[in-house]
Formats: sequence, C-alpha cells, structure tokens
Amino acid sequence: MARPKVYVTRRILSPGLEIIGEYCDYEVWPDVDYPPPRNILIEKIRDKDGLLCLLTDKIDAEVMDAAPNLKVISTYSVGYDHIDIDAATKRGIYVCYTPGVLTNATADFAWALMLAAARRVCEADKYVKEGKWEKPWNPFMLLGVDVYGKTLGIIGLGRIGRAVAERAKGFNMKVIYYDVYRLSPDEESKLGVEYRSLEDVLRNADFVSIHVPLTKDTYHLIGEKEFKMMKPTAILINTSRGPVVDEKALYRALKERWIRAAGIDVWEQEPTPKDNPLLTLDNLVAAPHIASASEEARSAMAEMAAKNLVAVLKGEMPPALANPSVLKIRPLDKVKVI
Ligand code: GLV
Repeated sequence: MARPKVYVTRRILSPGLEIIGEYCDYEVWPDVDYPPPRNILIEKIRDKDGLLCLLTDKIDAEVMDAAPNLKVISTYSVGYDHIDIDAATKRGIYVCYTPGVLTNATADFAWALMLAAARRVCEADKYVKEGKWEKPWNPFMLLGVDVYGKTLGIIGLGRIGRAVAERAKGFNMKVIYYDVYRLSPDEESKLGVEYRSLEDVLRNADFVSIHVPLTKDTYHLIGEKEFKMMKPTAILINTSRGPVVDEKALYRALKERWIRAAGIDVWEQEPTPKDNPLLTLDNLVAAPHIASASEEARSAMAEMAAKNLVAVLKGEMPPALANPSVLKIRPLDKVKVI
C-alpha cells in the first residue's frame, strides 16, 4: 500500500514524528512559534490522509471540506474545543486526543498556582529581585494564607480534577466537588470527596479549582454572580480553558476583593493582550497556558497523538477517540490505508 500523507501543524517532542515517519510521509509546518495561517493549512491539507494539530489550530467544516482524503484529526491536547466534532463525525473523520498522559502534570500545576496564590510567591520573587527588600524581617511582610487544612472545591471531577483531589490528602484538606456526573459513594469515599451543588461549592470552598472542558454549557460558568457567592477569602484556580471564566467579572472580583486571589493559566484570548487589566493586579498569578508543560507530559502527548493517528490509518481502534459515533458512519476498515 502507498504511504499515507500527513500534515503536522507544528514541531512536537520526540517520539511523535519518529512514530509517524515509520508509516507515513509527513510534512511539518516549520515555524516553532506560530501556527500555520489558515489559508496555508487549507492548502497543505488538500491531499492529506491525516492531520496532527495543536489547540492553536481551529479545525472547522471549511478545513475538513478542503481535504477530501482526510480520515483522522489527531490533536496534541486533551481539550478538543478547537475542533468541530460534529462536522468531523458527519464526514466520517476520526478525531483523537491525548487524555491521561498530562493528568499529573496539569494537576501539579494547578497546585503550583494554588500555593503561589495563597503564599504570594510571585509577589515575593518580584519584591526581592526588584530590590524592594530593604528593611529587615517583619511579621507583616507579604502575609498570605494557609493551604493546609482548608476546604478545596473542585469543579469538574474528571481525570485531572481527581488528581488534584488526591494531592489534597497530603494537605489535610476537605474536598468538595461539583460535576454533571456524580461518583459512586464508594469512589467518593476512596477519593475522600463530597458531592455538592455548584453554588454550595462556591459558597464553602477556600480554594476553587476548575477542571471542566469548554463547551457551550461551560462558557462563562464562573461570572459575576458566581464570584459574589464565593468567600471574600477564596482563591480561584483555572487550568481548564479561559472562556470558562468571565474575565471582566474576574477583574472586578479581584480588584474589588470579592475574592482574595486567583491563579490563571488559561485566558479568554491567547496570548492574552498586553493591556488586559488583569495583568495589573498583584493578587493574580498569571501563566501562559503551560499546565501540561513538563518534559515528560509533552513527550507522552507527542507519542499518544502519533499513535492515535497511525492507529486510525492502520484501521485499528486508536488509544483515545473523541467521537466514537464515527465508527458507525465510516467503520475502521474503510479508513485503513496502511
Ligand atoms: C491543554 O490545554 C490541553 O488541552 O492539552
């Protein structure tokens, strides 16, 4: 059989391209910093059987229609809100993603933000480096709050939410959660979590960490009304997707101290504009969407994204399929080209 053609929208860590190269002819967009412009993506994808994309590529019906041979879209991410899943399914295109391999990295980073926001780590760093530490130790300098023994509220108890909950055991925290799915009582007691309504989580948590996917139901899930329910001492952490939080409301909540602080890795627009008023606030810890950015996780994501892509082209069940209903539209033996 001929080797299938694959387009890869950015360089990724090893062993992603090595795996694809074993079975396919591939072309990689060479710019490390920017995704391919849309017209180039549409041009490049015309004769391709597979696409390996990033969360910075918007893959909609127009892109799919430019690629009559396209059988699989494999995204190098666990989130797939940048891909029109219904449009792909209708066209018999498999959509794959990378769950699991970045769970621990992302949960670790949610904790990094939680600790940094509670103990003002970024303010402290700036204080020392900018030469402001001129007076001796004093009992009031950069006072934060304890994490140990507090109540953690998790919104969205999927893989990452659970990993965040597990880590809370070491901090002797009470963990309450809200999700559209409730765990069994057995799972809840093993993980040490209590199910609550969203409002109850917001009203009672000292830390609120968000771990839901971005969908039309979670867009601006946390806005002015929700911030007003939170404790004035609460700290919000978002490592999910920016648009889950209404940034204008977040600004008011932080500025007017409806809540104490926030740790934000994801933004309504990425990169966030330099003049985003949130960036003027000391009680906001900011990061540029790097929760999964550990060498281990990013390499495992590359491997999984490549294996997903190759599996579909071999007519095999991929490790992580986002649209299983595609199996009925175009069964695996109909996409087999390797
Ligand atoms: C990162 O945000 C991902 O979805 O993998």
